[in-house]
Amino acid sequence: MGSKAFYLLAVLSFSALALQAAFVAENEGKPGLVMNFYRDTCPQAEEIIREQVKLLYKRHKNTAFSWLRNIFHDCAVESCDASLLLDSTRRMMSEKEMDRSFGLRNFRYLDSIKEAVERECPGVVSCADILVLSARDGIVEIGGPYIALKTGRRDGRRSRAEMLEQYLPDHNESMSVVLERFKSIGINTPGVVALLGSHSVGRTHCVKLVHRLYPEVDPALNPDHVPHMLKKCYDPIPDPKAVQYVRNDRGTPMKLDNNYYRNILDNKGLLIVDHELSADERTRPYVLKMAKSQDYFFKEFSRAITILSENNPLTGTKGEIRRQCSAVNKLH
Ligand code: HEM
Ligand SMILES: *[C@@H]1O[C@H](CO)[C@@H](O)[C@H](O)[C@H]1NC(C)=O
Repeated sequence: MGSKAFYLLAVLSFSALALQAAFVAENEGKPGLVMNFYRDTCPQAEEIIREQVKLLYKRHKNTAFSWLRNIFHDCAVESCDASLLLDSTRRMMSEKEMDRSFGLRNFRYLDSIKEAVERECPGVVSCADILVLSARDGIVEIGGPYIALKTGRRDGRRSRAEMLEQYLPDHNESMSVVLERFKSIGINTPGVVALLGSHSVGRTHCVKLVHRLYPEVDPALNPDHVPHMLKKCYDPIPDPKAVQYVRNDRGTPMKLDNNYYRNILDNKGLLIVDHELSADERTRPYVLKMAKSQDYFFKEFSRAITILSENNPLTGTKGEIRRQCSAVNKLH
């Protein structure tokens, strides 16, 4: 090899090393999530998930509501690591069985999304990413915005059942507590107002509503809305196993839209937190703005979902890629 060629080669390999070092340095201390994380390892992953979400939505519209609610219940509790999906074992209680998870549903259909992905790329795509991407694609099915989200989350190995109440506000929590909980994960007031717009779809069971109906009707409720609620929740102490519920948005129950904000301004919000959102002076200005502008709602919603989806993920070599979403992998 001539000395000139040798010199060129040395310079080239040195710059490659330098580039690599710079890349590593840049990613140090960052969450390590990237766009299209599975580009090389499972290029079809995002497409398979999208197809499955669409297919399931055609058969069961409410699957999309579940994927949306999942992103809150998994990501807001310390980390987006699919801990929500773990079943109870002899040693740990499942998050799904706690009171804060009341009404969560359709987990077996999430398993079928995972199975479809596993058929194509076994052991590559995490349940945490499937949970987040199914929420993203579900949002589109119900008329919401498309939100480009990063991937590369890995799955945790333990349930956080015992700390759910520390992170997830109750149905009757004060707005101060609600705002504070979200602030601690980087979501500001308009972000909270937008996220609660998720209550524009789906249902609320009577067990979470009877406090506003019995022994006397909450005077904050719109009297026009009360007969319907009483008809659906005729039992002051509902059987928790009975399927007694009220639709969150009677106007457009299947659409993620800003009708929610008009409902709560009209005192037709079902939960106490929904009502507070329109009554509290810190949140009301944003409620008014979102009631007027679906674009503004979607813009803030997309921003808040992105922050939620990036909350403290396990990346790199932390955690694992669960083979089955409802159980941790067996260690050999
Ligand atoms: C202060 C915060 C929140 C509270 C207290 C709260 C509470 C609740 C409650 C009690 C229900 C009714 C469950 C049932 O009876 O089946 C519900 C439903 C729902 N929540 Fe929330 N939620 C909050 C924030 C969120 C956020 C941030 C999202 C999404 C990003 C969300 C998405 C949903 C959806 C989609 C449903 C309907 C589920 C279905 O029909 O299966 N919620 N929520
Ligand atoms: C909120 O509702 C629960 C029942 O779901 C009740 O036990 C609790 O005392 C209520 N909290 C407040 C602050 O009213």
